[in-house]
Amino acid sequence: MNAVRWIHLLVAAIWTGGLITLAALVPAMRKAGADIEVLRAAARQFGRLSWTAMAIAVVTGLIQANKFGYSLTGSPIGTKVQVVGVMIALTAFHQFTARKTSPAVRGAIQGAILILGIATFWLAVAI
Ligand code: HEM
Repeated sequence: MNAVRWIHLLVAAIWTGGLITLAALVPAMRKAGADIEVLRAAARQFGRLSWTAMAIAVVTGLIQANKFGYSLTGSPIGTKVQVVGVMIALTAFHQFTARKTSPAVRGAIQGAILILGIATFWLAVAI
């Protein structure tokens, strides 16, 4: 049993599963008339959990890549690291601009983050 691998998979599931769950929950909460402050509190708490998961995914991923001697350039894992980089940048952009952007722009950015999360899983399995 490799503890680092186990942690990597757990936090990868938290990040990606969280995105998918939130995508399903938010419209349902809106439809049920959830107050904007309730939605913001949920988003803030989700952000704390998901950023912690992502930080742990990056650290444990780098440990595993180093352990197995995987190159971070010109390989499926290199592509995965680039996709993760774009996903982190988009998520940070979303977090800092969410209050000012329109629901359509927010939805497009959230959709892109979700697609990148699923692509990361695909690339991870292609290693
Ligand atoms: C800099 C960031 C990352 C690096 C360097 C990295 C590196 C790695 C490495 C080397 C493995 C193989 C480890 C092993 O088999 O023990 C792996 C597996 C995996 N990674 Fe990452 N990872 C990173 C981020 C992520 C993120 C953000 C996710 C998803 C949100 C993710 C999802 C996965 C999954 C699902 C596997 C398992 C693939 C399988 O067992 O077939 N990784 N990663």
